[in-house]
Order: sequence, then structure tokens, then C-alpha cells
Amino acid sequence: MEELFSFLEAEGVDRALLAGVRAFRAKFPAAPEQQCRVPTPEYFYYGKKTWELALAALLAGKNLLLAGPKATGKNVLCEDLGALFGRPVWNVSFHINTDAAYLVGTDTYDGRAVVFRPGPIWLCAAQGGFGVLDEINMAKNEALAVLHAALDFRRSLDVPGYERIDLRPETRFIATMNYGYAGTRDLNEALTSRFAVLDMPVIAEEDLQKLISRRYPAINVKIRDQLAKLYGELERKAEAAEISDSALDLRGLLDAVALMEQGLTSGDALRMCVVNKSFDDYERGLIRDVIGARVPADLTRADVFGT
Ligand SMILES: Nc1ncnc2c1ncn2[C@@H]1O[C@H](COP(=O)(O)OP(=O)(O)OP(=O)(O)O)[C@@H](O)[C@H]1O
Ligand SMILES: [Mg+2]
Repeated sequence: MEELFSFLEAEGVDRALLAGVRAFRAKFPAAPEQQCRVPTPEYFYYGKKTWELALAALLAGKNLLLAGPKATGKNVLCEDLGALFGRPVWNVSFHINTDAAYLVGTDTYDGRAVVFRPGPIWLCAAQGGFGVLDEINMAKNEALAVLHAALDFRRSLDVPGYERIDLRPETRFIATMNYGYAGTRDLNEALTSRFAVLDMPVIAEEDLQKLISRRYPAINVKIRDQLAKLYGELERKAEAAEISDSALDLRGLLDAVALMEQGLTSGDALRMCVVNKSFDDYERGLIRDVIGARVPADLTRADVFGT
């Protein structure tokens, strides 16, 4: 994981925190059979301050709740943190039907006898994993109650009918939740209180330039900079409530570049991946205007990826 460490050093992340992570890794090396669960990150998260907040919380033994709008890199950061700390990761996607049996485990019949099939939270606890509790606010409160003892000072899983186990000291939980757009629910106070809460910022313009260049090294720098500015402008308009946040979607902007790489014109690519994320004609017009002021619609692959 030296590449990620070098990246963070180059980003200027506090050396003392990085030294803390190295000490953690030395104290809690992943077992050979766990290696397959230690992430190899595809993308690096950009945002020095956010990194420092997250590292400090995890090093202090806290659980972390990453809260913020869509496509702010919450899952990318989770993967990166698992990789940096060198721990096996269990990803659990929460939804309305998530229940305690799924999280902790169930008794099943294996053809000969009834055996306990451990769930992801149990495995995390027993193996010192990093549990990513994705979109934790989407689950019902009853299902989340089994997590209370695991997430506070008791650090144990104690569910009636199951053997009680203590969390290994290196176990951490990182939850994510969306807020700020339709269809999300609040997280109950008892649960929120058990996390250090990190507000995920929208990526800074300079970081976005670096991100685009890293993912598309051949992109024309002027066009890259216009795309980064365009994103900032959409953000300002969404914040001022001139447009909704439907088109403020970094995934969409990056997807648009991928489609230009496939040979679509800038206009077609940005329409599919950004403008059309809004289903309101008037708003689409506003978004088209913002884009039009920065990026002409008729750019070809040769324009976008030429020097
Ligand atoms: N600060 C950032 N650094 C690196 N990548 C970022 C950042 N912000 C957004 N991204 C990019 O945005 C895309 C979405 O990231 P990710 O899936 O982690 O977002 P998310 O916050 O989990 O979104 P959602 O709430 O919709 O699940 C990825 O391509 C990711 O690389
Ligand atoms: Mg996500």
C-alpha cells in the first residue's frame, strides 16, 4: 500500500497521523487468509482535511459516520481507509429489509446439522475487520439496535440466542449516509451518538482537476479545467437553490468524459450524463446554459484528448 501512503504524503496529510497508521498496521497485520478482503483501491480520495479527520477518529478507536450528498466519495474513502489500515473489509448495504439475523448471523441446516452461519458484523468483530455500513440510515431502527453494544464502549455483540463475542481491538465500523436529497431518512440519535460524524465536502476545484487528470491522463488540460469550473458552478447554483442537486453529480461528469473517450461529442456526452439527470424541462434548460458557457457542444474525441 506504499502508493497510497506516498499519495497522502504528497497531498500534505499530517505525517504524525500517517505514522500512527503505520504503527497500527505493524500491531495488527492482516493474516494471510484475510488478504483477499483487504481492498486494493481503484481510486484515491482527494481531500486532505477529510483524510486527517477520518484518520484521527479511527486511530482514536472511534467509529466513523461519513455523511454527505451523493457522489462525494464516501465509498471511495471507505475502501481507501480499509486499504491504508490494511484490514479486511466487509461491506454491508443497508436497506429497509435489513434485519439482525442478516447482520449478525443465522442458524442454518447444512444437510447434517444445524450450524451457525455468521453474518458480516459477526465476522468483522471476530476478525478485526473494518465494517462498512453503507447507507445505514436506510435500515429500520429495530435492525440497528443489535449494533448498539458493538458500537459503544462495550464493544461486544450480545444477541439473545447467540454466543456473546467481544470485538477485536482493531475492529472499526465506518457508516455512510446520504442527506440532502429526496428519499433519505434521518439516523436515530442513539446510533448517531456512537459515531464521530464527518461531513463530506463537495470536492474542491483544484482536487477535481487532479482527479480528472489521474483518471484520464490524456485529457486536454484546458478542457479539464473548464469541466472542473463547470462542476463548481453547478454546485453554487444548487446551493443557491437555482437548480436542484439532480445534476450535481460527479459520477455523471466523469462518466461524460468516458463517453467522449468512446467518441461521443461533448454535447451528447454531457446531455446523457449531466443534463438528463434532471427530469424538469425548465431546469434542463438552465443546466444546458451553464454547460454551454464553458464547454462547446461539438467537441470531438480529438479535441478533448488532443493537446
Ligand atoms: N473527493 C473525492 N476524491 C476522489 N473521488 C471522488 C471524490 N468525490 C467524488 N469522487 C468520485 O465520485 C464517484 C462516486 O464516489 P462514491 O461512490 O465513493 O460516492 P458516494 O459518496 O458513496 O456516493 P453515493 O452517496 O451516491 O453512494 C467516484 O468516481 C469517485 O472517485
Ligand atoms: Mg455510496
